Amino acid sequence: MKHRRVLRAAVTVAVTGALAAGMTMALTTSASAGTTLRASAAEKGRYFGAAVATGKLSTSAYVTVLNREFNSVVAENEMKWDATEPQQGQFRYTGGDRLVSHAQANGMSVRGHALLWHQQEPGWAQSMSGSALRSAMINHVTQVATHFRGKIHSWDVVNEAFADGGSGGRRDSNLQRTGNDWIEAAFRAARAADPGAKLCYNDYNTDGINAKSTGIYNMVRDFKSRGVPIDCVGFQSHLGTSLAGDYQANLQRFADLGVDVQITELDVMTGGNQANIYGAVTRACMNVSRCTGITVWGVRDCDSWRGSDNALLFDCNGNKKAAYTNVLNALNAGPAIPTDPPTDPPTDPPTDPPTDPPTDPPAVGCSASVSLNSWTGGFVASVKVTAGSAGTSGWNVGFTLPSGASVTNTWSATASGSTGTVRFANVNYNGRLGAGQVTEFGFQGTGSASGVTPTCTAS
Ligand code: G3I
Repeated sequence: MKHRRVLRAAVTVAVTGALAAGMTMALTTSASAGTTLRASAAEKGRYFGAAVATGKLSTSAYVTVLNREFNSVVAENEMKWDATEPQQGQFRYTGGDRLVSHAQANGMSVRGHALLWHQQEPGWAQSMSGSALRSAMINHVTQVATHFRGKIHSWDVVNEAFADGGSGGRRDSNLQRTGNDWIEAAFRAARAADPGAKLCYNDYNTDGINAKSTGIYNMVRDFKSRGVPIDCVGFQSHLGTSLAGDYQANLQRFADLGVDVQITELDVMTGGNQANIYGAVTRACMNVSRCTGITVWGVRDCDSWRGSDNALLFDCNGNKKAAYTNVLNALNAGPAIPTDPPTDPPTDPPTDPPTDPPTDPPAVGCSASVSLNSWTGGFVASVKVTAGSAGTSGWNVGFTLPSGASVTNTWSATASGSTGTVRFANVNYNGRLGAGQVTEFGFQGTGSASGVTPTCTAS
């Protein structure tokens, strides 16, 4: 059904340019020779993930491939609304927790999928509407994101909320009928519940510049301009026998809005072009520095929701297909995500009374400056954090306190440690800063903090 609709849409935008361009791409100096998807992706600062049905974690042939090849997982079904809140207010995390444990034991990050989606709503939510549904859905986001707080790399906060076809508008659903602001309300609730997770909007039939992807693009641009907390956009990429020629350009235009992009549910119809399309999608991601990872929607062909399409990278016996080789080669040939060069330490030693705040924002990352109000036996430190040109989604400021000094109270940040090396992390409302934007936090202590120098790390 939807599957057929996806494939038809993919065929209508068939252009071969991306394949041809990708196949002639020269190896760069960053070429490497990783021998598994996870190693090769990691070498380039990215993840390579698979959707997992937790019931299969006891099948050794499945787990062998999963653990060898992938360093990210997403639950194919177990973190969805019907699975996690089958009765209103009664939460069930068995499947999700099992997947998180498996990931933690095997060096994998976890994508969370999906907090809100018009499909796989539990029956009780399907029959709700209006303000009762609005509060139930926000409660769901809050509860689930809180349960998994600190364990999720990226959450699909909202899944598939845009309509197919040429309208570029929202899909009708009981969620949408609670008011057009339901998506931003969900993102704000998710940020408050898990400030460390990247928050994504995820959809399909967005594999090129088209009415649907442009509708989403406009929403993301609007969110960024109004400070709605969105960090990433997921491109499901359930593909047919061709790939849109502007697949990479589409990823890039979203990245240029200041969000990460991720390929979130990749699978490709079998046939002559399957291996080429897999390679081209991987190259497109590698060529976009904010494309942080690729997830395929299953491990072996027989694990796929697409059944006889044989749409994945491994056959039913776990053997690598030609598509696998193309993906691996593209990972190895592609550039690494540029890493931020270390920030220079502040040139002016902090003085007491206050130093001037930096006038220019740092080029990348963040910088911090401190002013101290000291008295015999105590001090108050006021710290300014300034985001670099890329902005921040979170920050962490470290101090090494002199012997005898101790932090007794902190505001607008969360402290770890109280003596020696003490770190201060953003709280949920002040981690996200635009380029050059400044926020402040403070702490009080006993002893003397004279001469302390802050170091700032952005995420
Ligand atoms: O677990 C029950 C089983 O007990 C029962 O016997 C069986 C009978 O049909 O159903 C089983 O549940 C099925 C579940 O998959 C687990 O296999 C559901 O019926 C079935 O609807 C469900 O399908 C999932 C589908 O989302 C639901 O819309 C697919 O596995 C899953 O791959 C698919 O994933 C979606 C993404 O979440 C969003 N993007 C599209 C993608 C593909 O449709």
